[in-house]
Amino acid sequence: MKDIARQSMGIKVESMDLLNGQIKMEAHASATYLAMASWCEQNGFFTSAKFFYKQAEEERGHMMKIFEFLIDTGGNPLSPEVTGINHDYSSIVDVFESTLEHEVAVTKSIHNIVKKARELGDIATERFLDWFVLEQVEEENTIRDILDMIAVTGTEGVGLQMIDNQVANWME
Ligand code: FEO
Repeated sequence: MKDIARQSMGIKVESMDLLNGQIKMEAHASATYLAMASWCEQNGFFTSAKFFYKQAEEERGHMMKIFEFLIDTGGNPLSPEVTGINHDYSSIVDVFESTLEHEVAVTKSIHNIVKKARELGDIATERFLDWFVLEQVEEENTIRDILDMIAVTGTEGVGLQMIDNQVANWME
């Protein structure tokens, strides 16, 4: 994008650059959850696989929400390059623990952009991100609940299939 075009946009350049970074992060999350679905399918956790297919779709939805906001504000959304997707997990617990790590990182990133937007006086971006702030509260809560359920059920023998079946409780 030419400098003059960047200067005449509705959105602040700094906000746009941060939101493009967030687009990339959401795309990475979507691809990561698809890799987790693949791992679950191959290891017999079929309900968890469905959960991660759905999560992958949702993350793509988040990415598109930001993409469209940048279009609406006259910005330049960038189609992200997604690399470095992990397909290796040691257990179903590892999968859900990694999910929580991802979500915590996304939450930090969103909060960071909100703070920046506030500093810049970019009220539109700050208000736009309200939805994401609350969505992250819900997503982290879901994964923490699943990890709590795993801790209670235990991972010995039949526990693994019970864990998988119970994941259905977190899918609307
Ligand atoms: Fe869109 Fe779960 O972060």
